[in-house]
Amino acid sequence: MEKYNIYLNDFSSINKLINSYSSIFLLLDQNTEKYCLPILQKYLDVKSINLIKINSGEENKNIDTCCHIWKQLSELKADRKSLMINLGGGVIGDMGGFCASTFKRGIDFINIPTTLLSQVDASIGGKLGIDFDNLKNQIGLFNDPKAIFISNEFFKTLDSRQILSGYAEIIKHGLILDSDYWQLIKKTDLSNMNNLDTLMDLVKRSVELKHQVVLQDPLEKNIRKSLNFGHTIGHAIETFSLMNDTVPLLHGESIAIGLICESYLSYVSNNLSKNELNEITNFINSIYKKYNLQEINYNKIIDLMSNDKKNEDNNINFTCINKIGSFVINQNFSNHEIIDSLHYYNSF
Ligand SMILES: NC(=O)c1ccc[n+]([C@@H]2O[C@H](COP(=O)([O-])OP(=O)(O)OC[C@H]3O[C@@H](n4cnc5c(N)ncnc54)[C@H](O)[C@@H]3O)[C@@H](O)[C@H]2O)c1
Repeated sequence: MEKYNIYLNDFSSINKLINSYSSIFLLLDQNTEKYCLPILQKYLDVKSINLIKINSGEENKNIDTCCHIWKQLSELKADRKSLMINLGGGVIGDMGGFCASTFKRGIDFINIPTTLLSQVDASIGGKLGIDFDNLKNQIGLFNDPKAIFISNEFFKTLDSRQILSGYAEIIKHGLILDSDYWQLIKKTDLSNMNNLDTLMDLVKRSVELKHQVVLQDPLEKNIRKSLNFGHTIGHAIETFSLMNDTVPLLHGESIAIGLICESYLSYVSNNLSKNELNEITNFINSIYKKYNLQEINYNKIIDLMSNDKKNEDNNINFTCINKIGSFVINQNFSNHEIIDSLHYYNSF
């Protein structure tokens, strides 16, 4: 894995970088075309860019959309020296990076993440892929972008659900890695998110934390597993919601539930104190809408967890915390304990 630069509110080097390629392809969806392309265009000075447009949404993060992207690259004569620019949220970043990395055995790509979630999490660390057979991110690979350009100008058009979705990953960063950051996160006034600089301060810290972790362990053999806190149960709930709800949960909304459940598991097994468990649960419950998790579906959620990529030796693999700011990886729990954690979420 190569080192790459992450630029915060700084597009000054983008033209030099992208003009070194034979042709440029920009992947976007209907929302990022409308809201983000005009912002990016203010900074671009290039002869021509080929736009590849896809439909937004997790339900389109699949092989059919990849075929459309690969076909466009072929028809527009992309070659090994072409560049893909991913302009959008985590769906565009994961899928655009995957298509670029597999087209003609790999062309370069850069990420311009436009949601809070993709700025603090999805765009960093080279995990690329698509959903398959109702399972999240089932097909994919690791490959880093050539650069990432993050700008708070993109926040202006994000609605509060999208902001909160990204906030769940910010919360996770505090819980696993940095107790001072957790204090700052708790103090941040989320009703005043019009203050783009406040949000950008959090983005900066989260980017630093995630980048430090993935540089040490790019292929998730060890410390990178810390970033999975909240994601074992969270991913299963996200998949369940995608399959069953008319308005499915967003990624971060599912992770927020996972953070509560996995904090509970951390309490029962890893010495997380009752006080800290309460602190985490109360804070998350105070900012996220309650999800109606019915007991009748608990086993379906456990079934989904048994397909999780993180599992080893047929055991469902969890990351826990033993106190706020400190994690422990490779934890296993019985189905009974997992069900207890779902009950715990439901008890509020
Ligand atoms: N690769 C990783 O390490 C990693 C980490 C976390 C999440 N993910 C993946 O990221 C995806 C979720 O990403 P997401 O939350 O960004 O969702 P998303 O990509 O679906 O974007 C959310 C919505 O916001 C719209 N949008 C994007 N930017 C906008 C803007 N500035 N203004 C208005 N609308 C805008 C998009 O069109 C979309 O409708 C999931 O597929 C998840 O699996 C990947």
